[in-house]
Amino acid sequence: MRLTGAATLAGVIGWPIAHSRSPRLHGYWLEHHAVDGAYVPLAVPGDAIEQAVRALPLLGFRGFNVTVPHKLALMGLCTVLDDTARRIGAVNTVVIDADGRMRGSNTDAFGFIENLRDRQPGHDVTAGPALMIGAGGAARAVAVALLDAGVPALQVTNRSQERAEKLRTDIGDRRLSVVDGNNWSDRLGGVATLVNTTSLGMHGAPPLDFDLGLLDPAALVSDIVYTPLETDLLKQATARGNPTVDGIGMLLHQARAGFRQWFGIDPTVDTALRDHVLSDQ
Ligand code: ATR
Repeated sequence: MRLTGAATLAGVIGWPIAHSRSPRLHGYWLEHHAVDGAYVPLAVPGDAIEQAVRALPLLGFRGFNVTVPHKLALMGLCTVLDDTARRIGAVNTVVIDADGRMRGSNTDAFGFIENLRDRQPGHDVTAGPALMIGAGGAARAVAVALLDAGVPALQVTNRSQERAEKLRTDIGDRRLSVVDGNNWSDRLGGVATLVNTTSLGMHGAPPLDFDLGLLDPAALVSDIVYTPLETDLLKQATARGNPTVDGIGMLLHQARAGFRQWFGIDPTVDTALRDHVLSDQ
C-alpha cells in the first residue's frame, strides 16, 4: 500500500459500519492502481451525522459514500444534489470540492443497471414489463434504473401497499403501478424482468414467499440480496432455466463513480474484484 502525508482521503459513513464491504472494495482498486490514498470506514450514529459530515472537509476528505441509516439525512446536508439523488430521495455518494461544497449524488441506480448489463448482456429490459418486489430505499434506486433504461411498465408490490403508493407518487412516472403484495406470484405471466429489492431471503431475515410457476422461462430474475449470493429466488429461477443476476454486482458498480471522482481513475469491475469482495463472507 502506498500512503504518504499527501494521501487522498475518502470513506463510508454508516451505523453500524463494521459489516460494510466498501473499504475492501475501494481498497482493492487503490492497491491495484497504486494510488496514494485511503478509503476508511466511518462509524457515525444517527444523532451525530451532521457534526461528522461537517468535519470531513476540514479533515481534508475528498468525499465519501453513505450507507444505512444516513442516506436520507444527506439529502439535507449536501450543498447541491444531482437529479438522480433527488428522484430516488437518497444520497449514497458525496464529492467534496476544494472550497468545501458537498455535491451529493446517487449511483445505486447506475449500479443496478450496469450489473444487469454486465451479467446478462443479452437481456433487454425494454422488451416487456418488470415486476419489482419491495418499496424501500433500494427499491427506489431500482425503479429509477429500470424506468431510465426504458422499461415499458413497472409493477411494484410491497408488504406495505401504502409505501408502494408513496414510491409511485414520489417518482411520478406513468409506467409505474402498484399491485397487491399478497399474491404477486399470480401476476408473473408476461413479466420480462423480476427483481427482489426486499431483505427477504437474506441471512437472518425471513424467506421470500414465491411461486415462479407462471414466469416466462426467458424472463430475467434478479435479487439485490447478496448474503447468500444465490438466494432461494435465484436458485429456483436457475433450476427452471431463467437467466439470473445476483446482488453483489450492484455494490461493485455503484462504487465506480465515487472512486473516479475522488481518486481520478476510472476503475473496472471484473471477476478478480468480485472474488475479492466475496471472499470476505
Ligand atoms: P432498503 O434500504 O434495503 O431497501 P428498507 O428501506 O428498510 O431497506 O426496505 C426494506 C424492504 O423490505 C421494504 O420493501 C420492506 O417492506 P415494508 O415496506 O412493508 O416494510 C421489505 N421487508 C422487510 N421485511 C419484510 C418482511 N418480513 N415481509 C415483507 N417485506 C419485508
